[in-house]
Amino acid sequence: MITNTDLEYKGNLYPNEIVDFKQETDKIYFTTANGVVLQITVLRNSMIRFRYTTEYNFEPDFSYALNKNGLRGYDELNVNETATEYIIQTIRMKVLVDKKTLRTQISDPAGNIINEDELGFHWEENYEYGGNIVKMSKITKTGESFYGMGDKATHSNLKGKRISNWVTDQYAYGKDQDPLYKAIPFYVGLTDNKAYGIFFDNTFKTHFDFANEKRNVTSFWADGGEMNYYFIFGPEMEKVVRLYTDLTGTPELPPLWALGYQQSKWSYYPESRVKEIAKNFRDLKIPCDGLYLDIDYMDGFRCFTWDKKLFPDPKRMISELASDGFKTIVMIDPGIKIDRDYWIYQEAMKNNYFCRRGDGPLMHGKVWPGECNFPDFTNPKVRKWWAELYKEFMADIGVHAVWNDMNEPAVMEVPSKTAPLDTRHDYDGHLTTHRKAHNIYGMQMVRATYAGVKKHVYPKRPFVITRAAFAGTQRYACTWTGDNVATWEHLWLANVQVQRMCMSGYSFVGSDIGGFAEQPDGELFARWVQLGIFHPFCRVHSSGDHGDQEPWSFGTEITDIVRKYIELRYQLLPYLYTMFYKYSKEGLPMLRSLVLYDQEDPQTHFRTDEFIFGQQILVCPIQEPNSKGRRMYMPRGKWYDFWTQEVVTGGMEKWIVADLDKIPLFVKEGAIIPKYPVQQYVGELEITELFLEVYFKLGIENSTVYEDAQDGFDYKKGRFSLRNFKLHGKENELIIQQFKDGTFATTYETFKIKLHGLPFKIVTIIIDNEKVSLTDVMFTGNNTLEVTKEFTTLQIIGN
Ligand code: NOJ
Repeated sequence: MITNTDLEYKGNLYPNEIVDFKQETDKIYFTTANGVVLQITVLRNSMIRFRYTTEYNFEPDFSYALNKNGLRGYDELNVNETATEYIIQTIRMKVLVDKKTLRTQISDPAGNIINEDELGFHWEENYEYGGNIVKMSKITKTGESFYGMGDKATHSNLKGKRISNWVTDQYAYGKDQDPLYKAIPFYVGLTDNKAYGIFFDNTFKTHFDFANEKRNVTSFWADGGEMNYYFIFGPEMEKVVRLYTDLTGTPELPPLWALGYQQSKWSYYPESRVKEIAKNFRDLKIPCDGLYLDIDYMDGFRCFTWDKKLFPDPKRMISELASDGFKTIVMIDPGIKIDRDYWIYQEAMKNNYFCRRGDGPLMHGKVWPGECNFPDFTNPKVRKWWAELYKEFMADIGVHAVWNDMNEPAVMEVPSKTAPLDTRHDYDGHLTTHRKAHNIYGMQMVRATYAGVKKHVYPKRPFVITRAAFAGTQRYACTWTGDNVATWEHLWLANVQVQRMCMSGYSFVGSDIGGFAEQPDGELFARWVQLGIFHPFCRVHSSGDHGDQEPWSFGTEITDIVRKYIELRYQLLPYLYTMFYKYSKEGLPMLRSLVLYDQEDPQTHFRTDEFIFGQQILVCPIQEPNSKGRRMYMPRGKWYDFWTQEVVTGGMEKWIVADLDKIPLFVKEGAIIPKYPVQQYVGELEITELFLEVYFKLGIENSTVYEDAQDGFDYKKGRFSLRNFKLHGKENELIIQQFKDGTFATTYETFKIKLHGLPFKIVTIIIDNEKVSLTDVMFTGNNTLEVTKEFTTLQIIGN
C-alpha cells in the first residue's frame, strides 16, 4: 500500500497518522501528527458532513448555501475503534477512518462499499493568494455514473467529464462549454444500483473530475477555502435529491400565475407596443399571464427608474394590463450607473455600499449604462437597503414581479467578464475577496430582491427570477438557462439542462423558449414550445435583434400548434401546481430524468431525452427537424399514449409517431390527472368542476391534487385543499378512495371523471356505500361521469 508520505509529489501535502481523537455528541474530531483535523458531523441517519483543516484550526463555520430550517437528527450513533481504524456508525451508514492516512470509506449497513477515498483529502499551498488549494479524490467503480451539477450543458451522465464552477455570463454558449451561469457543486453518484450524493459547500472556484483524468478516480478541489462536503446516502436517487434539497432549501409556493405562460423579449417598448402584444394574445386566444420589460424601460439603464418617454405612466399601464389578466415583470441589474445626479448612486456612495478593490478604490466596470459601481450584496446592510428600493416599484407602481439579470456580476469588455478578484466583500462579517464571494454574489443580490419584493407585494406572493445562482438560491428565485441560441442543438441542451437543474435541487427553471440569440424557424419554435410547456418556468424570450418571436410570428399553422400546447399547460395547471407543492414541501424534483425515475434499469443510465413531468407524465421532445416521430425509451411499467389512449408496455425502445403538432406523451397507468378548463390567464374563470382523467390499472397507484387560493399566504394557515387518491383496479371493479386534508373550499362541487382503459362495462356505481343510478352521475357511453368532490370511496363495478 502506498502511504501518504510516499505521495508528496507535485507540491501536494497529505495528512499522516491520527494522534488525537475526540467526540462532542454529533461531532467527531481526528487530528493527525502534521496538524490536519477532520471533523465529522452526523446530521441525519443518511447524511454526514466531512470538514478538514490544516494547521489545527478551523475558520468560523459559515455557509450561504444551507437552509436554516433543514431537518437534523439521527436515531443512533456509535463510534468504535480497532487497531487500524475508527468506525462511525448510524443506522443507515458506516464510515471507516484509517488511522494512518485519515482516508475514509463509507458503506451501507450490509457492508457494501458506497464510496471510498482514493488519496482522500490533500492540499497544496496557494503561494499567490495564501491559504490552500484543497483537494479530495475518491475511487470510481466500473459502471459508476454521475449526475447533477446544475446547468452544465453536456450529456446528463457526467462520467468522463471535467467541469468547473464559476458563475459566468456565457452569451450564446455552446454544447460542452463550461462554466455557465450557475455554480451548484452537488453531484449524485450511482454505483451498483445504489445512489449517494456529495455536496461540496465551497464558494471558491471549484473543479470536479469524474473519472476523466484517471479512469478509476473522481476528484474535486477548490482554489481556496475548506474541504467541506456533505455525504448523502440513498440508496434511492430520489432520496439523495430530497435530502440535498432539504439541506439547501426549497422555494415557497409562487403565485399560480407564475406557472402560466410568460412572454418576454429584449425589449418590448414603448407602452403602445406592450399593449399591442397583450391585445394579440387576447385576440388570438392564446393564454398568457406574464409580460416582461427588459432593460429598455429604464431611464438610461438606471435601475429603479423609468424612461418616461417610452412609459409615461407605468402605474396606469400596469393596472390596465392587469385588468386584462397580465402581470408585468421588470428587470433589475446589479450595476449602478456612476452618475452624480442619480439618487441611488448618491445613497450608495454616502453609505459606502459599493464594493471596493483590495487597495481601496471603488470597483467599477462597464455594463449597459456605461461605467457602474456594484453594491456589495454580501453586506446585510446593503441587502436591507436594496430590498427597500423595491417599495416604490411594487407597492406604489404595482409591478408584479422582478427579474434580476447580469448578477454574476457580468462586466463588459474585460477578459474575466466579471469583477477583479481582489474586490473586497463583507461576506456577512467574514471579510473576504471576490475569489470567495464571486459564486454567491448573484445569489445574495436575489436574496435581497426576494426580501424586498416579498415585503412590498404583500399580501400577494413574491415572484423573483435570477440568472446567476449558487446552491441554495432556489430558496429565493426561479431561474432560466441564460443566453441560448435558436438551434436544434440548443433545444437538446435546454432539455438536459432543465432536467439537470431539477436533479440539483433547483426545479423552478426553464429556458428561453425558441432561443435567445438568432431566429428560430416555425418548426423549431413549435417543437421548443412543446418541450417548454413541460418546464416549471415557461417563458419565450429572445434578444430582439432579429425577427419576432411571439406565438403568432410564424404563420397560422404554427400559431395553432403553439396555442394548443399553451392551452394544454393551462389545463394541466392543477397537476403542475401539485408538483410545485411537492417540490416545495417534500423536496421532490419537479422533473425526473429516467435514471431518477428508475435507477435499477441500467437502460436509463445514459438516457438524456425522456423525462417524467411530475410523477406520472412521460415526455420525450422531438429534437430534430422534419421529424415524423422518433425512437424513445419507454421506462418499465405500462403507459397510456396521451393522444390515442393506447397502452404501451415499457422496458424497451419504441418508435413513436409525432408529426409537427404532436410531442410523444404518455401517462403512467393508474394515474389520476387533474385538469382545469382552458383559461386565457390564471383566475380568468371560476372553476366549476375539476376534471379528473383516470387511467385504469390492474393494481394500485396513488395520485395527489393540491389547491389553494393561488396567491397570498392563507394556505400557511391550513387553507389549502389536498386530495390524495388511491386507485385500485381489479378485473371487474375500480375503486377510488379519496383522503382529504386542509380547510380550503374549492369553488367547484363536482369532479368530472373520465375513465380510460376500463377493461369492463360499467353496471353499478357505488359512492360511499350507496348505490347511485347511472343517470345521477350523468354517466355517458364514453365513460365519463360526474360525482361529488366529497366522496370518500367511489366503486365502479362491471359485469
Ligand atoms: C442578458 C440576459 O441573459 C438576457 O435575457 C437579457 O435580455 C439581456 N441581458 C438584456 O437585458
